[in-house]
Amino acid sequence: MPHIHLVGISGSLRKDSFNTALLHAALTLLPEEVSLEIASIADLPVYNADQDLPTATERPAAVTAFRNILAKADGFVIVSPEYNYSIPGGLKNAIDWASRGEDTPMANKAVALMGATPGLGGTLRMQVAFHPVFQFLNMRSVYKPEVAITQVSKKFTEGQLTDEPTKELIKKQLVALKALVLKMKDGQ
Ligand SMILES: Cc1cc2nc3c(=O)[nH]c(=O)nc-3n(C[C@H](O)[C@H](O)[C@H](O)COP(=O)(O)O)c2cc1C
Repeated sequence: MPHIHLVGISGSLRKDSFNTALLHAALTLLPEEVSLEIASIADLPVYNADQDLPTATERPAAVTAFRNILAKADGFVIVSPEYNYSIPGGLKNAIDWASRGEDTPMANKAVALMGATPGLGGTLRMQVAFHPVFQFLNMRSVYKPEVAITQVSKKFTEGQLTDEPTKELIKKQLVALKALVLKMKDGQ
């Protein structure tokens, strides 16, 4: 079986972010023959087409480094809060930087989305807001199981995911992502 390399992105820059903690938990819940590398969006400038190819001769260094990590991915794990019922601006900005050019490192790949909220919303509106983005990039999303975690204070202890049913759910979504990547590698 081929080795599968995933790249994970957190939509929150907050030091004590529940979503970043969730992404780190995913590192410990991977299926066999799957690796996960985390790419940070913290250093990316605001998207400016004048600094992107083909207008510029090279992209900003932080963008190039980010795109290089993404280029190695067979698939993506995006873990994000919901901001104002939608995708956090910094995360959307990162995807905008990764989406342009013949060498876009995100297009035509598989993706799994997760999100966590203190309240009962579970980031579902953020997750729905991603669908047109995936559509534009011809990405294929894992639709089931959904990982939309509510009431984080009951599921995390000192910044670590400790809720066993949530861990099982994440494992199942990662297994589904692996299966989707293998299907796509097989030309399906
Ligand atoms: C700008 C902003 C907008 C927010 N909008 C929403 C929202 O639409 N829905 C929601 O459930 N929580 C919303 N929240 C609360 C976040 O869910 C909460 O701050 C969460 O802990 C952020 O994720 P993190 O812990 O990974 O940083 C918002 C928070 C911020 C800072």
